[in-house]
Amino acid sequence: MGHRYWPLFELRVRTPRLDLRPPDEADLFALAALAAEGIHDPATMPFLTEWSVLPSPRRERSVLQWHWKAWADWSPDKWDLPLAVVVDGEVVGTQAVHAEQFAVLRSVYSGSWLVQRWQGKGIGTEMRAAMLHLAFAGLGAEVAFSGAYPDNEASVRISRSLGYEDDGWEPHVRQGAAARSIRFRLERARWEERRRHDIVVEGLDACRDMFGHSWGVS
Ligand SMILES: CC(C)(COP(=O)(O)OP(=O)(O)OC[C@H]1O[C@@H](n2cnc3c(N)ncnc32)[C@H](O)[C@@H]1OP(=O)(O)O)[C@@H](O)C(=O)NCCC(=O)NCCS
Repeated sequence: MGHRYWPLFELRVRTPRLDLRPPDEADLFALAALAAEGIHDPATMPFLTEWSVLPSPRRERSVLQWHWKAWADWSPDKWDLPLAVVVDGEVVGTQAVHAEQFAVLRSVYSGSWLVQRWQGKGIGTEMRAAMLHLAFAGLGAEVAFSGAYPDNEASVRISRSLGYEDDGWEPHVRQGAAARSIRFRLERARWEERRRHDIVVEGLDACRDMFGHSWGVS
């Protein structure tokens, strides 16, 4: 059955290796369980908000609440789209994309994580490429931004391999101390040079208005 009032739930991004989909309730609880299982070595902190080291069940609940908040706060002027990453029917992590004033700025920001046992298999690169296809080909973005701490080698390598350029740094409090994240910027022309033709976006037309006016080019 189609989601007449929330057509976003029909959105899919499919690559040969994985699907991205807005998580339903079963997916959300799967994501909460993955967060409990572990996303990173607790000695380090890849995220700006340090939710991933909360004790159980606060960590799992923070996953649920973060997703519910994304739906509750959604507006065409400010949206945060969390997408479950599904490999062979199994939820393995999340790839989010968000924007403010997208109709005017046509800029997106992203964040992601995978449960540790699914890391280092190329899934992180594939899910970022899928998100970029949604943003550039589907929504008509002009620029995508990302950020990572310099010691997050996998995330840094993904950004550089997909064509992002270094775009300065930002200050943060990380585990109680001052730290800098690298800011990455991917302009549309550089994405076009690397554009993939094996990624498909489905169900976007029905929810296009939820993203503000957008310029579909796929
Ligand atoms: C960041 C993350 C999503 C990357 O996903 P992934 O599936 O592990 O990454 P991939 O397997 O696609 O690897 C990407 C690149 O990093 C390299 N890489 C992977 N793990 C690495 C590691 N532990 N150390 C160094 N390099 C690594 C890969 O060789 C690959 O490099 P290449 O493109 O030059 O071949 C995942 O590791 C993760 O969830 N980490 C914890 C949460 C996090 O850091 N989120 C992002 C916050 S900015």
